[in-house]
Amino acid sequence: MQGNESDARLPTRTESHDTRPAVAQTRGAPHNCVMTSSTDDRTPRGPDIAGLQAFALEDDRLPPAAFVGRQDIIADIERAAARAAAGGDAVRGRTRLVFGAPGAGKTALLHELARRWRARAADGDASVPIPVDCEPGELTSPVAFTEAVLSALFPDSSHDVATSTTTEGGGGVPGIAGLRVSRTTSVPSLVDSVQAGRTPWAAIREAIQPARLTRPVVLLVDETQNMPGDPNGDGRTRLLAETHDGRHGLPIMAVLGGLGDSKQVMARRGISRFARDAVHSLPLLEDAESGEAVERFLARHRIVGEEEAKGRWRRRIAEACNGWPQHLHNYLCGAARALADARGDLEHADLDTALTAGENWRRQYYDARLEGVSADLPAVADIVGRISEPGAPMHRIVEWCREATETAAAGSDLHARMIHDGVLQEMPGGLVTCPIPSFRRYILARA
Ligand SMILES: Nc1ncnc2c1ncn2[C@@H]1O[C@H](COP(=O)(O)OP(=O)(O)OP(=O)(O)O)[C@@H](O)[C@H]1O
Ligand SMILES: [Mg+2]
Repeated sequence: MQGNESDARLPTRTESHDTRPAVAQTRGAPHNCVMTSSTDDRTPRGPDIAGLQAFALEDDRLPPAAFVGRQDIIADIERAAARAAAGGDAVRGRTRLVFGAPGAGKTALLHELARRWRARAADGDASVPIPVDCEPGELTSPVAFTEAVLSALFPDSSHDVATSTTTEGGGGVPGIAGLRVSRTTSVPSLVDSVQAGRTPWAAIREAIQPARLTRPVVLLVDETQNMPGDPNGDGRTRLLAETHDGRHGLPIMAVLGGLGDSKQVMARRGISRFARDAVHSLPLLEDAESGEAVERFLARHRIVGEEEAKGRWRRRIAEACNGWPQHLHNYLCGAARALADARGDLEHADLDTALTAGENWRRQYYDARLEGVSADLPAVADIVGRISEPGAPMHRIVEWCREATETAAAGSDLHARMIHDGVLQEMPGGLVTCPIPSFRRYILARA
């Protein structure tokens, strides 16, 4: 990328969760290989201008420059993986569900899990989970599922994965003058065996037993709301249910990321029982966490300046983003532009310009979220205005949506759109809230 491209135009951010690639689209590539150029040891010292310019233009599909927070959720997932490795959690299920409005950080969390597990494995940790980037559709296709799991376990899938030695009778007559025959199995032949009707679990068991797997396998499934249904009732979604209750007897579990109605979507896919605390609604970032992200962003790009100035950037960006990860990203993009313009010198960079650019992207993000409900904006504002702290019971929301529209079907359609666009979110415990408080204020002001 040419260094001065970022001066030419304000990048347009029309992010819609439907157009973002799922985690699975980076299968095979290490998740930490897509960072800005500042990680390159050969980069000369001094501010990383090229990295700043690239960051300002990059779209938000890449993992964050500095991942912060979410430690409790990560710890819960790692405990669940350790229990899955030990064969536990059969009753209330192994699956972890992480949900949140668009921009809450679901994809970033799944990327971070994969990144840190791969890094720990590279450091020789023999018990860290093996991440499998899995598309929602792969959970309904035995063949695709087997391929996804085996290619994560055996990245070079042309290799033989299992060798067994059997004794065959001479001349094909069983039991007579045994002849030792060695058979090898490869990923493609195991996948073929599933195509021919074998269960994925049997194929996976054959592949991993000889390797004496000591690590749990964790399926990372993003955009779970897009998981195909089971319209014919032929049990194609069984794979997820079997992963959930550990019926396969393998150390495999799933972490599902999805929008605010994922729990209902899962219930329709046959998973209604979740372990206590296994459903995580992504909270806002703490101010200190947003501040940490700013600090690490500045350090990563080798920004020079007084501690006092760094503290000011850290404080004002953390305040401006209101704890919402998407906003944090937008303000960091604004900061990257302003810092690149000042050649990485904090004393000469314009913080107000950085914040204004972030603010513009923030508005674009809200407007994109509202596209799906624009025709019903007055009704949406009315409903949102009625929701007070700590939230409203689900049946009231259903009632209000029904009142605002002609029919029950139109009411439930409006309700679904509001959840998909991040206007509403159902919290554990059944209350419905506006998950992005500043978005609520924006809707009320616009209507
Ligand atoms: N924990 C975090 N630390 C730092 N930045 C984060 C964190 N979580 C998310 N972000 C940043 O916030 C932005 C939105 O995050 P992400 O794309 O993961 O949201 P999402 O919930 O997957 O949204 P969607 O539903 O639209 O797919 C990204 O630019 C990401 O880099
Ligand atoms: Mg996402």
